[in-house]
Amino acid sequence: MARLLFAAPVLSVIACEGEEEGRCIPFDAREERYDSREKLPDGGAPTSADCMLVCQRLDAHRCVASPAPTAPPDGGEPYPPHTACYFTVAAGCASDGRRPEGLQATRAEARCALGTHFARMAWLEAASVPAFLRLAEELKAHGAPRELIRAARRSAGEEVRHTRAAAALARRHGATVPAVEVAPFTSRSLEALLLENAQEGCVGETYGAMVAGWQARTARDEQVREALSQIAEDELRHAELSWAVEAWATERLTPEARQRVRDARLAAFQELEHRVASEEPEAVLVEQAGLPSRDAALHLLRGLQVLLA
Ligand SMILES: [Fe+2]
Ligand SMILES: [Fe+2]
Repeated sequence: MARLLFAAPVLSVIACEGEEEGRCIPFDAREERYDSREKLPDGGAPTSADCMLVCQRLDAHRCVASPAPTAPPDGGEPYPPHTACYFTVAAGCASDGRRPEGLQATRAEARCALGTHFARMAWLEAASVPAFLRLAEELKAHGAPRELIRAARRSAGEEVRHTRAAAALARRHGATVPAVEVAPFTSRSLEALLLENAQEGCVGETYGAMVAGWQARTARDEQVREALSQIAEDELRHAELSWAVEAWATERLTPEARQRVRDARLAAFQELEHRVASEEPEAVLVEQAGLPSRDAALHLLRGLQVLLA
């Protein structure tokens, strides 16, 4: 892992260039899902014919209603009636954090690509804080070793620092960070925790750590290099925590559930690979923020694939 993290070329000394005035990148790029428990304005349960009424405020483009409780595959508590709202959010963020379940979509408004990028990064870092606090609580509830619980709590504190660092970068580019809104957490099974951990931690944070390490080496902007080198170090520990959580918890699952977690990890990797392969970051983000180009990102992904094999 450390070898991959520091595989980025050593930064050559190049004069710092500012971003062109007024350049903006489109914010929307990939489809995300948010499970809403809201009822229709008349108090009725949404159906697939009218569920857009509850998904509208998310700018959703489609929805699927589950009007009756659904049983989770591992036989835990039934998931209450809900409406899956599908909406699009930005792609290409460098350090996608650990997104908590129920994270509500938002838009980072900025007049330039760097502002949008850092505002979205700060928003994701902020969203990682409740994700780790919940992880710590759930690990405790499931009787996990104290070291894992402590590491999850410490990670929440580190995400607070990341938020501050990314928000400072966003402010420098005239952008403000949107507020994080997360739907209230409900109890869930160990398998549900691990499915999220596979996607957000083993894939998301591990890749995020690699990209942050790359940025720390290649960004032209000195403040970005400084912030990202601390973030990369922390994110590497968060990635390790995800793998440690999985290693501890999988022994407690049935072989079928274990296979589902493995499948979720591979599916998350394939989704990430598809996203990375289908986008080329703006040149200004590659130069100033050190984001890997499409080819460089695919190279980093090969390293992640080795870990997932
Ligand atoms: Fe972070
Ligand atoms: Fe993290």
